Amino acid sequence: MTTVLGIETSCDETAAAVVRRAGPGSPGEILSNTVYSQIADHAAYGGVVPEIAARAHVEGLDAIIARALAEANTTLDDIDAVAVTAGPGLIGGLLVGVMTAKAICAARNKPLVAVNHLEGHALTPRLTDGLQFPYLLLLVSGGHSQILLVRGLGDYARWGTTIDDALGEAFDKTAKLLGLPYPGGPAVEREAATGDPKRFALPRPMKGEDRLDFSFSGLKTAVRREATALAPLTDRDVSDLCASFQAAVTDTLRDRVTRAFDKYRADVSDGPADFVIAGGVAANGAIRAMLADACAQNGFTLHAPPLDLCSDNAVMIAWAGLEHFEQGAVSGMDIAPRSRWPLDQDAEALIGAGRRGAKA
Ligand code: KG4
Ligand code: ZN
Repeated sequence: MTTVLGIETSCDETAAAVVRRAGPGSPGEILSNTVYSQIADHAAYGGVVPEIAARAHVEGLDAIIARALAEANTTLDDIDAVAVTAGPGLIGGLLVGVMTAKAICAARNKPLVAVNHLEGHALTPRLTDGLQFPYLLLLVSGGHSQILLVRGLGDYARWGTTIDDALGEAFDKTAKLLGLPYPGGPAVEREAATGDPKRFALPRPMKGEDRLDFSFSGLKTAVRREATALAPLTDRDVSDLCASFQAAVTDTLRDRVTRAFDKYRADVSDGPADFVIAGGVAANGAIRAMLADACAQNGFTLHAPPLDLCSDNAVMIAWAGLEHFEQGAVSGMDIAPRSRWPLDQDAEALIGAGRRGAKA
């Protein structure tokens, strides 16, 4: 039995979790999943403030780890390894997590496993659904928008990324300019439910292009232009703008994802195939419904991890660490956190690439 403590502090969630399994191939078990979301600390600023995030991690992490161990009914003595997010993300938060993990490992003589945050998202369906390699992954959150081919453990090909804003960031910025609360995604989705998606003809950035990348900043600017022309906005205007924005996003995503299906068919396999959605934007009902339909039409099985494992959490870090640890991977105590750490080392860096740059 291998039991791993995971620690996640790369953005605005302070999280710790314990997972375990009997060995490679056997199902994993989540013993605890503790998350302190700092949303309230950042809401007044309409986005994550790095200094506030780092300070909140310092203040909260020890207690969160203690709670994760207690809820798992375990102690550090039972832990075989400590997995920690070492990047990509906000450097202040990463430092807090990595230093804490190193301190535990040094004091208790435990192995340390540095985990890539994106790999945590990528491997989650192997814990929740026992998914086998290879599979396609759409990762859409506040910091990243990527289409990845997951070929194996540590083996990823990035097929597409955003050339400017991440998708969650576009939701957040759109909400902010319409006077809706942070985080913007849930607020925009709520408003969109009663709005007219056809009232505003918003652009579908990148639609029809062969490359699999995304672009969302022009869409947000188009919403701003419409909103400025209409100001002051009525409730009706706001919900119609949200509905039109969400329709443009969904339409663009469908185009990108369908192209990724075609590439998968051409390059990987034309047999049964799996498609995973991860990241906070996976909570969006319209996007989920579109993906379910697109997958069904193209012979892909859609896997959407439960929402608390889609958004940032430490279960995914513990799990990715466990998979690597089982293969013999252990990090040196001299590892340094990296704000930039692409999953696909061969992929070229694109300009912009999301709010936290590194996360895209
Ligand atoms: O994965 P996550 O919890 O944290 C990171 O950014 O890594 O994702 C948060 C993002 C925010 O931008 C938020 O607005 C977006 O996910 N989001 C949504 C919805 N719920 C959360 N976007 C669209 N529709 C939603 N229902
Ligand atoms: Zn994330």
